[in-house]
Amino acid sequence: MCGGYIVILPRKRRTRKIIYMDAKRTILIVCNWKSEPDTPQQVQELVQGVCRSVGEGQSVLITPPHIFIPTANQYITDARASLPVGAHVLLGAQDIMIDSESASVLTGEVSGDMLVSFGVSHVLVGHSERRHVLGESDDVVQKKLSSVVAHGMIPVLCVGESKRTTPRIAADFCIAQVLHACSKGLCKKLCIAYEPVWEIGGREHIDIEYVRDVLVYIREKLNVDIPTTQVTFLYGGSVRCETALELIHACPIEGLLIGSASLDVGAFSCILKSVYS
Ligand code: PGA
Repeated sequence: MCGGYIVILPRKRRTRKIIYMDAKRTILIVCNWKSEPDTPQQVQELVQGVCRSVGEGQSVLITPPHIFIPTANQYITDARASLPVGAHVLLGAQDIMIDSESASVLTGEVSGDMLVSFGVSHVLVGHSERRHVLGESDDVVQKKLSSVVAHGMIPVLCVGESKRTTPRIAADFCIAQVLHACSKGLCKKLCIAYEPVWEIGGREHIDIEYVRDVLVYIREKLNVDIPTTQVTFLYGGSVRCETALELIHACPIEGLLIGSASLDVGAFSCILKSVYS
């Protein structure tokens, strides 16, 4: 057993293949559009493409750039009535303003209230591109996460090691990032996206066994501080149609965080079909 999962080892144990099965496991697929696309027309095409692709009982979270949140919200709202039974297309954001006692207004920032007013339910925090390229520290990530929670939204906390190492070292690193961002009791609902930084950005091959081992350790050890039953675990980094189903089968996760492949409706709908097959 691992968390709430039943681990099924195939007869030939030496293959080290493990299948995670959980009848109650609901899968969430997150589209991280990063700083694309360029125009509202492309947003319309993408949102409508996602809404056409999503099937019965499937859940997709779209996180567009801030400037396109109102446009995406409008097309999601328009499509909602014609979605299949039990299908959900949710709206997320890629960033949030820190709630600061010293500054209640900050030039260029987008507040939690603004996000909520456009129907945003989830916010990405701690993505490696913001940590490494924009220099967001663990303290900033913690403040942003608190701001998400204070506004009643769900944080999607991204964690991951920069270089390939051993699964145990990687897991310890990720747990430290989680515990820095999310103090005990703060996160009643939390998504954790494990994204090994070295796997992000369209690599050909994902080391699924490594990813699985890291996630198994994270779930086991984190459970002491944050009950992992209240956490939705995702994997992100170069997910493609060819690898999506294997990741879902092999790893103790409840979903995937998809970057570049989520900007191609064909590739994305292929991922949805395979994950829910
Ligand atoms: P990718 O991006 O799927 O293009 O690797 C994932 C991410 O950065 O979140």
